[in-house]
Amino acid sequence: MHITLIAGTRPNFVKISPIILALKKKQAEGFPVHFRLVHTGQHYDDLMSSAFFQDLQLPNPDTNLGVGSGTQAEQTAGIMIGFEKELLDFPADLVLVVGDVNSTMACAVVAKKMNIPLAHVEGGIRSFDSSMPEEINRKITDSITDYFFTTSTFANENLKKEGVRDEQIFFVGNVMIDTLLRLENEFKQPSIFEKEKLSEKKYFVLTLHRPSNVDNPEKLLKLLTTLSEHCGNCTVIFPVHPRTAAILKKNGIVVKNIVIIEPLGYLEFNYLVKNSMAVITDSGGISEETTVMGI
Ligand code: UD1
Repeated sequence: MHITLIAGTRPNFVKISPIILALKKKQAEGFPVHFRLVHTGQHYDDLMSSAFFQDLQLPNPDTNLGVGSGTQAEQTAGIMIGFEKELLDFPADLVLVVGDVNSTMACAVVAKKMNIPLAHVEGGIRSFDSSMPEEINRKITDSITDYFFTTSTFANENLKKEGVRDEQIFFVGNVMIDTLLRLENEFKQPSIFEKEKLSEKKYFVLTLHRPSNVDNPEKLLKLLTTLSEHCGNCTVIFPVHPRTAAILKKNGIVVKNIVIIEPLGYLEFNYLVKNSMAVITDSGGISEETTVMGI
């Protein structure tokens, strides 16, 4: 059996990691399963991609479609063109996608149009907010998925309401938490900890990257100023996503108490999270029962 696994963005790498370990375990037991890891190239900066491959001990991708950034349509189309060629060159018995990013939806559509069965890990999550590109990606992907691997009963119920049959749903829990628990003992103190003289439970971690929060500089400034005014003079460490960094730089936005740093790798970021007083984030799958780490 040949399975093609898709990963394109930072959170995808965290999700795919325990799946690869499980497949390798099956291989070691003699189960005839082969897999190819396809990186779409949606995230490509070292700090957004290769740092994660290293921290998560992921194998090098078998191929990188190198799609890069673009508008929603450009990025989606680029991934579809590249992935169709990949599947023609390397036919698969199953394509497995994770999460809700453009890479997820684009590869799902290509696979199904080539009549290849599709598995979706983190199927069934809904925010019911169609202004988010991720919500559109979730609905399209789930409308053509054959096997749903879900994180919560909330996800199961959403799928059933949409006509998915019980036997298509596998309630397996949260793969992000599998990775978190596996690597918890390897978390590493980032240099910012000493540099800012941080002490345990006395600082906040902030992550923001949703277009609705960061694309309008006035709104972003207001958000950061409000946080700064309400953080009780605590330091707020803000590892910025490249899209947010570009907007902060272009508009010269600097706010008291908010310390802006480059994106961190998985092990350093989670050290910072574990020792913080709290995390303020616009990230995460929406579900009543799961807590998705703010990556
Ligand atoms: C994507 C996902 C989002 C996920 C997030 C994780 C979609 C629709 N959105 O958002 O759900 O939570 O990844 O981070 O798929 N950029 C770089 N270097 C990189 C990657 C991006 O500079 O390695 C910049 C580019 O200017 C790019 C912008 O970030 O245009 C946005 O990147 P994109 O991949 O389109 O979406 P994200 O905001 O990362």
